[in-house]
Amino acid sequence: MCGIVGYVGPRPASPLLIEGLRKLEYRGYDSAGLAVHDGKTIDIVRAVGKLHNLEVALAAHPLAGSLGIGHTRWATHGRPVEHNAHPHAAGDVAVVHNGIIENHVALRHALEADGVRFSSDTDTEIVAHLIDRAMRAGIVDLFAAVRRALEQVQGAYAIAVVSRTAPDRIVVAKSSSPLVIGIGEGETLCGSDIPALLAHTRDVIILEDGEMAELRAGSVRIETVAGVPVVRAPKRIDWSPMMAEKGGYKHFMLKEIFEQPRALEDTLRGRVDLRAGDVTSSEIGLSDEVATSIRRVYFLACGTSYHATLAGRYWVEQLARVPAVVEVASEVRYREPVFGPDDLVVAVSQSGETIDTLAAVKAAREGGAKVLAIANVLDSAIPRAADAALYTHAGPEIGVASTKCFTTQLGALLLFAVWLGRRRGTLDEGKARAVLQALVEAPGQMRAVLERAPEVLAVARVWHSASDMLFLGRGLGYPIALEGALKLKEISYIHAEGYAAGEMKHGPIALIDKKMPVVVIVPKDAHYEKTSGNVQEVCARDGQVVAIATDGDDEITPLAQQVLRIPPVAEWTLPLITVLPTQLLAYYIADLKGTDVDQPRNLAKTVTVE
Ligand code: M6R
Repeated sequence: MCGIVGYVGPRPASPLLIEGLRKLEYRGYDSAGLAVHDGKTIDIVRAVGKLHNLEVALAAHPLAGSLGIGHTRWATHGRPVEHNAHPHAAGDVAVVHNGIIENHVALRHALEADGVRFSSDTDTEIVAHLIDRAMRAGIVDLFAAVRRALEQVQGAYAIAVVSRTAPDRIVVAKSSSPLVIGIGEGETLCGSDIPALLAHTRDVIILEDGEMAELRAGSVRIETVAGVPVVRAPKRIDWSPMMAEKGGYKHFMLKEIFEQPRALEDTLRGRVDLRAGDVTSSEIGLSDEVATSIRRVYFLACGTSYHATLAGRYWVEQLARVPAVVEVASEVRYREPVFGPDDLVVAVSQSGETIDTLAAVKAAREGGAKVLAIANVLDSAIPRAADAALYTHAGPEIGVASTKCFTTQLGALLLFAVWLGRRRGTLDEGKARAVLQALVEAPGQMRAVLERAPEVLAVARVWHSASDMLFLGRGLGYPIALEGALKLKEISYIHAEGYAAGEMKHGPIALIDKKMPVVVIVPKDAHYEKTSGNVQEVCARDGQVVAIATDGDDEITPLAQQVLRIPPVAEWTLPLITVLPTQLLAYYIADLKGTDVDQPRNLAKTVTVE
């Protein structure tokens, strides 16, 4: 949510900032703006809506200069109108901000009582005024003035600040919201996420909570807000700029769907020891003692990641025979959950920044639990708050609707369950080898399913005008029913519900009539007889079945209106395969409807506010 970019160097800042903001569009936004220093003064241009509108405004009012900051805003305080768009100015200073200033009401009242007049409804403008006042009070150095302001601010923020009086530097600071610094050749950049920088550098410094930095063309100075100098060498990122581009696909989401076999291979690489029938222990990052001593696995996640944890629970119970609980993180943080040293919490988040998951992780650690994070973004907040991190290697996921992060999360969760089962003695070498072998074979099976995308497109053509859709699944098909429904509603805006197939009789069956498409995940697995019984029940009520079924299953053919086929697959890895037709179905339906597939309305990629 909200994207920040900044540039200081020899090149014209404006096009670079726009290009960086474009790479952050996936975060979701409703307005955008730039502030550029031309050596004498700072000029600001802002526009409501997509970046194109900002480019139109810039064409009418070009911003010259080689130092600037930019922002995409996702409204929290104040409507998405131009005067609330960032950057916000006060005196000589301009500020962009991601996050929420929690004590904004008190600060605003104090500033207003002091004669300050606000020109926006945002919490961000408060920060600009606090810095301006510090400078007016005699703190001439921008870095010191920003520090003075931050001492008064509570909440989550990443900010970038420029001042007319400091034509050679940007000051940035971070608490909870992400901020990355890019080190280029004689130029320095910053952004909310790595893709914003990749076109210019792969050498990055990730700012930590409570730190601030002064960026100049050839140098970076980092200190804590409390004034302690920080020395941190840049890290080299191995994502190529192309990995963050569409690569010839119409949408990022489609590209990411097709990247899944590669993403899973990357996630498994170096972690599977087929000879020993085990997972490379150092990759999990927890001691064997943790594995043997815990009495409960407690999964925490939101949205699609939560659906992955439902499969994780299944695997942990089956392979490691440990009681496992799955919770939506946004609910956990408002109960009084009982965590203790017997718990191993597994927090799953593609972004690694989801505020609810982060808060629940902190609560778990306060209760004495050990925490393993499964995340896709290196050094993001949740892995840093955890005891250990198992990274998925999906590469940057730009489409707001998560696809390759989901399947790599499934891969990581199955690795984790095998690791746990092996250490607890509930999983022998032979069975572990069979599970791992299935996992290693999954990318090839995924490729085979993706080759059948045109068949999914044909089904999408039939159903893209539906107003509702039901998804049913059982066992490891249940999380996929939930995920299939979520994907469809996120990007096509069709109302969709996912249900455990066994629950159909307890309510959703009332919805079924000849206008209701029902997607049933009914592969040849241990639950096949029961799930195909549900298919019969749907047919008996004139429901229209789209079956996701195994090659060679001819019993299903006469019952379903359409059948989307998958190859025969080991039961353990079924969700990695059955989810693919549901992702493609959602994608093609949304594309046929002409929705904004990569940036669906109202959604944000990284949910850093409650
Ligand atoms: O970054 P996270 O995995 O923690 O995000 C959790 C959800 O916000 C996310 O999965 C959301 O549901 C996506 N839009 C799913 O496509």
